[in-house]
Amino acid sequence: MPAEKSIYDPNPAISQNAYISSFEEYKKFYQESLDNPAEFWSRVAKQFHWETPADQEKFLQYNFNISKGPIYIKWMEGASTNICYNLLDRNVRNGLGDQIAYYWEGNHPDDYSRGLTYRKLLEEVCRFANVLKDHGIRKGDRVSIYMPMILELPIAMLACARIGAVHSIVFAGFSPDSLAERMFDCKAKLLITADGAWRGEKPLYLKALCDTALEKVEELGHSVEKCIVVSHLKRVTPCQDNHVEEEIPWTDDRDYWWHEEMEDKEPACYPEWMDAEDPLFMLYTSGSTGKPKGVLHTTAGYLLYAATTFKIVFDYKPGDIYWCTADVGWITGHTYVVYGPLANGATSVIFEGTPFFPGNDRYWSVIDKYKVTQFYTAPTAIRALMKFGEGPVLKHNLSGLKVLGSVGEPINPEAWLWYYRYIGKEQCSIVDTFWQTETGGHVITPLPGATPMKPGSASFPFFGVKPILLDECGIEIKGEGEGYLVFSQPWPGMMRTLYNNHERFEDTYFSKFPGYYCTGDGARRDADDYLWITGRVDDMLNVSGHLMSTAEVESVLTEHPRVAESAVVSRPHPVKGECLYCFITPNENEPFDQKLISDLKKMVRERIGPFAQPDVIQNAPGLPKTRSGKIMRRVLRKIAVNDRNVGDTSTLADEQIVEQLFANRPVEA
Ligand code: PRX
Repeated sequence: MPAEKSIYDPNPAISQNAYISSFEEYKKFYQESLDNPAEFWSRVAKQFHWETPADQEKFLQYNFNISKGPIYIKWMEGASTNICYNLLDRNVRNGLGDQIAYYWEGNHPDDYSRGLTYRKLLEEVCRFANVLKDHGIRKGDRVSIYMPMILELPIAMLACARIGAVHSIVFAGFSPDSLAERMFDCKAKLLITADGAWRGEKPLYLKALCDTALEKVEELGHSVEKCIVVSHLKRVTPCQDNHVEEEIPWTDDRDYWWHEEMEDKEPACYPEWMDAEDPLFMLYTSGSTGKPKGVLHTTAGYLLYAATTFKIVFDYKPGDIYWCTADVGWITGHTYVVYGPLANGATSVIFEGTPFFPGNDRYWSVIDKYKVTQFYTAPTAIRALMKFGEGPVLKHNLSGLKVLGSVGEPINPEAWLWYYRYIGKEQCSIVDTFWQTETGGHVITPLPGATPMKPGSASFPFFGVKPILLDECGIEIKGEGEGYLVFSQPWPGMMRTLYNNHERFEDTYFSKFPGYYCTGDGARRDADDYLWITGRVDDMLNVSGHLMSTAEVESVLTEHPRVAESAVVSRPHPVKGECLYCFITPNENEPFDQKLISDLKKMVRERIGPFAQPDVIQNAPGLPKTRSGKIMRRVLRKIAVNDRNVGDTSTLADEQIVEQLFANRPVEA
């Protein structure tokens, strides 16, 4: 049966106890959230501490219509609070001091396990907040973080939040160049990192990468004054300890060991009261021009939205154990490893390792070990693990699971069904959560006790979110149909601007269709009103859930002295979802050989990060361009999949080139 027709009702045992227990109930709350957003979210706000309460009249102020003036979105402006206070002090005061906030599971199963209670987490955060203050960090300063999945990572983030510093986390899989570019853009004052991290058998020497990045920032004309380093590599299992060979590079007067700095610090630190609209953090995401965009989130709205989506979408109840496998370096980790779970006093697992080490059953063994009830991962991981069949799954008891989440890219029905049958044993709800760095939290998602599921459909909007489909002319598509996915009103967790570039914010998200926030994704609405995300409508691609722009990869490729021009398109990939297929035009009289291919792959890996490595590099004596010089990417996408249905090519300057490119496809492609 086609996925669109098959419907899986939530397990009645889940519905019975769920916060939202039926589709009718969802619809009722949803309507309320649209009819009166201020009233709806002010009810949510009551559970939190406000040093200065919100003025109900000014609970929500916004302009979404660029033709009426500048875009702005303000929730609870004038109210003051501190998000760290709400996540930690409030929970400790409410009796959760002895509850575990995080279990830490190392890369190797024999690594020592660590657990941090809410009380201990609060103390550690306060001590590190005092470290930051001693190093001159104040409200509004930017602090870059480049760390592995260790407990010091949320501690560092929350310490920033406590004193009003803006954290800017860079995923530790990014290259030194990418880190430098991001630290330069936000003019970071301080960098927090670790000596290294473990990935399976291998240590990754992060501090050495930071040193390269810090030098590059200097070259760009900005100096990051301090670097605080967690000593992590040597505290894990002795067998791996033997493998740590490298000296950690060190610059006196700039570099400080975390543990030495923490030694004499007070475990208390008075929180900085922040305006609801003061910045909380920024996080870079790829932009279609190639330059990353510093997405800025603010305090109160993000708190309300992270807390509510976490609670309702995962149906988190006291006593549950939640595990999100995403790295904190991505938005999923920000909202659903740190802010959302802690705002609800939840107990979570943080995992340093990979799904494949020491065996392909590692995820299932961790679920079993901690008796995980909610598990949240990416389709690419599911597809990679499906390949090993049911064997590794059956070795473990997964019966505690209730909700299974998916995020980052469309989940194909085959992967959905495998997840549902073999991991969830047909008892769990699957929440296919569609959202973006920019949206701050889930915007289209099923709710576990309420939404009948269709494999591959993100289904319905979350509270406060109003999705609309538009055609190319900006006309709304009602009922069944496919178009640009836009939102017509703000929800509390959405981004407020791009750091230091409000104009780019307005251009990117609000100019194509005045009156709407434009996601950059396409979507289809079926006869039952379910939404199906169809993928990016711009020049972005999604490799294993990592969003990147074709322009960003092209600019690296064309830096090679033997390359005249390049064009990158995405091609479907069975595990990664999409992969990079690159067309390269070498300079006149330059050969296209194996060395060039491996040099180019290496350059992309080094300049952007290993996850961006191209799968295919093809020789292109020319590129299919219109007479005005625009590359026709849809033709290249067809060549990449060897589909001769290229459509109309009559506007090409040289139609012959298409045939030539088909003939040039490498054998392995
Ligand atoms: O194309 C959509 C895809 O990932 C993009 C956002 O990427 P990023 O900002 O890195 O955030 C990823 C984690 C939230 C979206 O524009 N995407 C994300 N989730 C889904 C998805 N596509 C389809 N289905 C999803 N559930």
